[in-house]
Amino acid sequence: MKTIFKVISMFTIAGFFLASCEGPLGPAGKDGVDGAAGANGKDGKDANETCKECHNPTVVDAVAVQFEFSKHSYGEAAFEEAGNVVCTPCHTQEAFKYVCKNNVPATFALNAATGKYSNSYVTIATSALGEITCFTCHSSLHTTFAGTDFSPLTTKAAVPMSMWKGAKTINLTQDGGMSNLCVKCHQPRPLTTSSSLSNGDVVDYASLVSAPTTVFYDNAVGNAAPNKLIPSYRTHVHYGGVGAVFAGVGGIEYAGTQTYASSTHTTAASCEDCHMATIAGRSGGHTFTATGNFNSCNTTGCHSSAITSSSTAFWTGPRNEIKGLLSTLATKINSLGDGTSKILHTDANAETNLWAGKTAENYDGYLNIYDPSTNPLGAYRNPAPAGSWTVDQKAINTALPIFPTLKNVVIGSMINFQLCLREYSLGIHNYKYSKALLQNSIEALTAAGI
Ligand code: HEC
Ligand code: HEC
Ligand code: HEC
Ligand code: HEC
Ligand code: HEC
Repeated sequence: MKTIFKVISMFTIAGFFLASCEGPLGPAGKDGVDGAAGANGKDGKDANETCKECHNPTVVDAVAVQFEFSKHSYGEAAFEEAGNVVCTPCHTQEAFKYVCKNNVPATFALNAATGKYSNSYVTIATSALGEITCFTCHSSLHTTFAGTDFSPLTTKAAVPMSMWKGAKTINLTQDGGMSNLCVKCHQPRPLTTSSSLSNGDVVDYASLVSAPTTVFYDNAVGNAAPNKLIPSYRTHVHYGGVGAVFAGVGGIEYAGTQTYASSTHTTAASCEDCHMATIAGRSGGHTFTATGNFNSCNTTGCHSSAITSSSTAFWTGPRNEIKGLLSTLATKINSLGDGTSKILHTDANAETNLWAGKTAENYDGYLNIYDPSTNPLGAYRNPAPAGSWTVDQKAINTALPIFPTLKNVVIGSMINFQLCLREYSLGIHNYKYSKALLQNSIEALTAAGI
């Protein structure tokens, strides 16, 4: 019923709109615009015709069916994060449209009075909701009510990286820059210092490279300055590793035997090429997933000999290599632990670990630090237990082994581990860049005696 009313009012609005586009029917100034629209039945019919350009079984109806199988649609994060002005620019429709339309910068701003930094990449409280729908990416829909309203896409502009507070930019120009739409959201988030122990600014990633053996977190000091960041279960650069790795921009680039370069995909293929390919199973088109869909690899102009899930040179070979490097790097990082438990968190449950099966150990990129709500089985003591924890929770925490001291090179390597694990494809996105980040991190840890 509600939809019918909506449709009726849409027709009225559209009829009205088209009538006014055609200009006044009578002598200028005499006929009221409202009167002309109301009296003109023909215009209403025209509007109906334009609706049909989209509202038919092969266009909107077909795409909407695919979209139900996109995590953009069935995922729950839009509801979970609604209202949060920092999270919603990537999680909800209105916030995304707001940051695009207003060109909100990815910088951090210093508050001169408090001496603290805050993230400028935020929306406003009145535009911090909305599930991701057709209107999120096709922001001109229902503006002229013509079939051409699918264009333009909400943004195709170069993307200043939030992780680097705008100091680095990703710009994927193939296919008219369409991939930048995806990267605007599928990019890593900044690792920030504590705003109580420090100034809340983004971690100085350059120093993680230039001073690898300097202590970043001293476990003898724990939750106090000069430590600037207290490790926790969720010390991470969030879930958008793919944008950075695909573009070959923004990892913590240690020097080593591997040169930082990008694979052909970075300049020749767009996200849409592989993620919106011809439907195969429940993948491709507006499902946006590439899992199990090799149609794009074998498109004319791309790979000439067909790639399948058993191809060695272009699928299992590189993926196994990256998988191995991830495990080798993790083993090095874990060697800082007490010899009993890994310091990097593992989780074999594919319901809770988005990267289950990507490594033999089922890493998820989190740290294995106790937290009563997010990591109740954590193996290491949380250096900053919250006052709100129960007596029992505090006792569980105190009984756990202390989390190790971390040098700059360890934090840098952890970031690279997260980026390369969480790009999901085990190197298919950008084999050369993933390999260089992982291999050179391993070498930098070795050079630091780890
Ligand atoms: C450029 C293509 C296009 C044209 C033209 C178009 N629509 Fe839509 N319309 C859409 C899309 C896409 C959706 C969202 C479908 C979905 O979410 O499954 C939509 C949704 C709707 C809805 C559901 C409510 C909403 O806003 O989500 C109504 C009602 C509607 N359209 C009416 C109309 C009418 C009436 C016309 C003609 C005056 C029209 N549309 C013309 C693309 C179009
Ligand atoms: C407005 C921000 C935004 C844009 C634009 C966007 N995405 Fe997403 N995408 C997300 C979010 C948020 C999720 C996770 C949703 C959830 O879990 O509730 C997601 C999920 C996905 C997933 C599923 C990942 C998984 O864990 O299974 C794929 C694949 C994907 N997006 C691809 C793309 C592609 C390709 C584009 C560009 C055509 C794109 N996205 C554009 C925000 C965005
Ligand atoms: C720069 C964009 C961006 C911002 C800002 C952002 N996220 Fe996300 N987030 C994403 C993307 C993209 C994904 C989905 C990645 C995937 O599955 O491939 C995601 C995934 C998630 C998930 C996992 C959903 C799932 O499917 O399991 C949660 C939870 C989440 N984000 C919470 C938050 C919270 C809380 C904030 C604010 C503190 C936030 N996000 C800010 C981009 C962002
Ligand atoms: C995450 C972003 C995103 C969402 C959400 C999205 N689309 Fe798209 N859509 C795209 C991109 C990108 C393209 C261009 C693909 C290409 O040209 O390869 C596209 C293309 C299209 C086209 C072809 C347009 C043309 O001019 O030929 C149609 C039709 C379409 N989308 C309908 C929809 C409908 C209907 C929905 C909602 C059910 C929807 N889209 C949701 C990103 C999105
Ligand atoms: C050359 C093809 C290719 C290109 C280009 C590409 N991807 Fe992927 N993507 C893949 C493959 C292959 C996987 C891994 C699928 C698997 O292992 O099941 C993947 C996985 C993903 C996933 C998680 C799993 C899923 O549901 O597909 C996300 C999210 C993602 N890619 C986003 C992007 C974004 C954003 C871009 C553009 C910056 C992009 N991809 C460009 C091939 C590609």
